[in-house]
Amino acid sequence: MKVILASDHGGINIRKEIGNLLEEMNIEYEDIGCECETSVDYPDYALPAAERVASGEFDRGILICGTGIGMSIAANKVKGIRCALVHDLFSAKATREHNDTNMLAMGERVIGPGLAREIAKVWLTTEFEGGRHEQRVKKIAQIENKHA
Ligand code: RB5
Repeated sequence: MKVILASDHGGINIRKEIGNLLEEMNIEYEDIGCECETSVDYPDYALPAAERVASGEFDRGILICGTGIGMSIAANKVKGIRCALVHDLFSAKATREHNDTNMLAMGERVIGPGLAREIAKVWLTTEFEGGRHEQRVKKIAQIENKHA
């Protein structure tokens, strides 16, 4: 599995923590920043990360900002991206099993690094259940095509 990591200025610490986790898990990843000391615009980091997941260059992406909200909204504008904003372990598991999410967003001003690591670990290791969920994910793609 290949993972792309990105954050704005509000998510640098958790992004680095997730980088450490990926190294410990022997998962290949690229960290595209930001390496910013001043504030940046989160869509400038969500967009390239989401495009590189949508293109197939990366299997998954993890996005961090202050709340995770802006990053998730921006990533979900890219066709083929299913990005979940997650701050608990139940949702981390459920969104992989039910929604086959390919991107995860978290907020550094909402949760601490310990919980963020656990959420990422569960999200990275849980498989999509398929079955009845397959047709629901296909219906999301149909919405994208209708509004392309
Ligand atoms: C930046 O101040 C903040 O708006 C951003 O990190 C994020 O929370 C947006 O959704």
